[in-house]
Amino acid sequence: MKVLVTTLTAAAVLALFSASASAALDDAKAEALMKKSGCAACHTVDKKLVGPAYTAVAAKRKGEKDAVAVMEKSVRAGSKGVYGPMPMPPNPAAKISDADLHDLIEWVLTK
Ligand code: HEC
Repeated sequence: MKVLVTTLTAAAVLALFSASASAALDDAKAEALMKKSGCAACHTVDKKLVGPAYTAVAAKRKGEKDAVAVMEKSVRAGSKGVYGPMPMPPNPAAKISDADLHDLIEWVLTK
């Protein structure tokens, strides 16, 4: 039992460490995460597909107060009518974790 607790604690500490160490995504990591999480089916950085290009999203949201929180909520809960008639369906945590979503949104805002 003690071994299990120690192992779990070590895993939690490691998880915390890697979460804080991965704050900024580079382009390659971000693109891989977009593919893994299904975002790439509808988004590219600079071309409109089903969803707006991330450059268009960044142009709209950059400088907005609470931009990160607003965008995280749009992705989680879904969104429509902001960029056009096409809706974005909700993206649950099973598709992308809170930490990964946060990093990805911060990356989008650099575009
Ligand atoms: C089925 C297609 C589809 C998928 C899958 C999808 N999106 Fe979207 N996304 C859209 C559309 C369409 C919009 C524009 C919605 C609107 O006009 O309100 C959008 C909007 C956005 C925005 C802008 C939100 C805002 O409030 O400014 C972000 C950021 C975004 N998507 C990120 C993501 C991420 C990250 C994922 C993957 C976890 C993802 N999207 C998956 C279609 C999609």
